[in-house]
Amino acid sequence: MTLEQSTAFVGRSAELAKFSAEGFGRRTLAETDHLRVVLAALEDGQEIPLHAPPLDLVMTIVEGTGQVMAGASVHPVRAGDVVVIPAGETRGLRAVGGRLVAVNVVSPPPGPGDHSHAAAPWPAEEEAPDVAALILAEHSGLFPHLTDLGSLAADSARLDDHSLHARLQEVLGFLRDGLLPHAAEEERSVYPAAEQMLRAVGGATRTMSTDHRFIGQMVAELEGIEKGSLSETERERVRRLLYGLQALLEVHFTKENEVYVPLLNRLSAAERRALHARLSGGEHGHQEVT
Ligand SMILES: [Fe+2]
Ligand SMILES: [Fe+2]
Repeated sequence: MTLEQSTAFVGRSAELAKFSAEGFGRRTLAETDHLRVVLAALEDGQEIPLHAPPLDLVMTIVEGTGQVMAGASVHPVRAGDVVVIPAGETRGLRAVGGRLVAVNVVSPPPGPGDHSHAAAPWPAEEEAPDVAALILAEHSGLFPHLTDLGSLAADSARLDDHSLHARLQEVLGFLRDGLLPHAAEEERSVYPAAEQMLRAVGGATRTMSTDHRFIGQMVAELEGIEKGSLSETERERVRRLLYGLQALLEVHFTKENEVYVPLLNRLSAAERRALHARLSGGEHGHQEVT
């Protein structure tokens, strides 16, 4: 046995992956008389061409999304998927929608002629509807109603009881019949679907960064309020911004406290030490207030 590593080894694929602009990056992690273990790193659109060598293959997708040709059919794959292809059957891999990293275990180790065949063409892409456009259109329908919430808040102090209740019923109509059913459907179908992709491509904290962007804009708007005597309209704007910031920040802190912060103690001891050192002082001390 000629293990490339003389000892057992544990590696993190994200750190070991070697990408290349000239075609998919490959890094042999181990080779014995019986098998070869290769870490394949594909930039978006790169591929391992279709071929059918006399070698068994086990492929584990560890990062990203793409397509695999396994035997006679193409399958969508994402991080966490395992693909088994017996010797003699066609295999191929391509990254779709971003980078893809896969661990390929081939047995026996490939010989000189095993990868020299001309690449076969991939079958034509399957048609599918644009789901993102559908949801964006629904959001565009809901979004204008959000300004009604703010303007009612602003008007509430000077409206008589009758008008206030009438406007409140309109706003509640939108919330009850438009917004809440939309949110409920997202919980049922959209979030579970997005969750699968977030696991494959990372980036789950981007939603929190979106909150930070809105918080920053609202703080800037509050800072932009003229000093000195304020008109009634400006007072209302201040009130709306303060109410808005309070609600946004309460939800934001709750998301951080309940969803993200508990994950941090699952980091390795070294990672926790580094993060703790950064957050607990020195010139890189925690500046962020949200
Ligand atoms: Fe939505
Ligand atoms: Fe935050």
